[in-house]
Amino acid sequence: MAATLALPATYSSAIASALLSNKRPVLVWLEFQDCAGCTEAVLRSEDPGIGEIVLDLFTLRYHETLMAPSGHGAERSLREVVDNLKGKYIAVVEGSIPTTDPGYCTIGGRSALDIAREVCGNAAATVTVGACAFYGGWPRAHPNPTGAVGLAEAVPGIKVVNLPGCPVNGANVAATLVHYLTFGELPATDYLGRPLFAYGQLIHDSCERRAHFDAGEYVEAFGDQAHRTGWCLYKVGCKGPTTYHNCSIVRWNGGTSWPVGAGHGCIGCSEPQFWDANTPFYSRLPDVPGFGVQTAAEEIGLGIVGATAAGFALHGVAAAIAERVKPVRDEDGPVPAPSSDEGEDE
Ligand code: SF4
Ligand code: F3S
Repeated sequence: MAATLALPATYSSAIASALLSNKRPVLVWLEFQDCAGCTEAVLRSEDPGIGEIVLDLFTLRYHETLMAPSGHGAERSLREVVDNLKGKYIAVVEGSIPTTDPGYCTIGGRSALDIAREVCGNAAATVTVGACAFYGGWPRAHPNPTGAVGLAEAVPGIKVVNLPGCPVNGANVAATLVHYLTFGELPATDYLGRPLFAYGQLIHDSCERRAHFDAGEYVEAFGDQAHRTGWCLYKVGCKGPTTYHNCSIVRWNGGTSWPVGAGHGCIGCSEPQFWDANTPFYSRLPDVPGFGVQTAAEEIGLGIVGATAAGFALHGVAAAIAERVKPVRDEDGPVPAPSSDEGEDE
């Protein structure tokens, strides 16, 4: 856990003490316009796993998918937390909030907007999980019929930390909650409210295929020899150069694998409005420093030191690029998406 939080190993004992302290703060988990994929992802977190989070570390008083009560009994649980534990509980929000007509998403007869205002407004802190609660997610994709927005936009002024991703990585949810248990506060964040321990580094800078990028060794089409060999996925649309997330380090499903490791480019799911900004997903990003530097050794050096380091070392620059730059099609037209029988060798 100390490693996931990017803390020195000396913090291990403080974390262990917090986990053994039996403080068990109350947690309520709200779901709005979502697919419950983030809940599914958290169910697969390890060390601590969902069982420990729910049964040992926190007191989970409300979660539509996991709680035993239903109907009025369930809503009463939430009511009691808000009325009796003002400023003392943690709220987690999954899903976007509709604003065109708040009635598009109602639970127990109340709109998502009303519930979020009251529950998150009275919480000690709120953690958003997934792309939808961060920036509106797929429900906000053009033309956004429900007027979907993320929590911070719907309820401005609340204390919130954002854990975007589609879905969120359960390891980062567990680490954020353990950080709160250990230090009594949320972790330090970037300008988008994302914790630096999980979103402080570009995918591109810790990618196992990076040496191939620097050497100019690219996959040209899914299923080709370069793809089977494990070369860089930049030319088939990888958005790793503009995406901040720790997927390559923490990985998924107990460290089994991650998108690029499985042979598919990153689609930038932890960046704002990635569904509109990063499509078409299989077209390459233009003008990424270092691309195509295989022509001469000295150019490789210049590409890495001059462009990559200067261009990407400062957090926020790549996000600015993502805002400014739309993906372009390669000279030969769009790169075909993998068919169901391609790219499975990895
Ligand atoms: Fe890895 Fe993608 Fe960067 Fe290539 S472009 S090194 S696959 S993150
Ligand atoms: Fe998302 Fe890219 Fe990680 S698509 S899961 S940020 S590798």
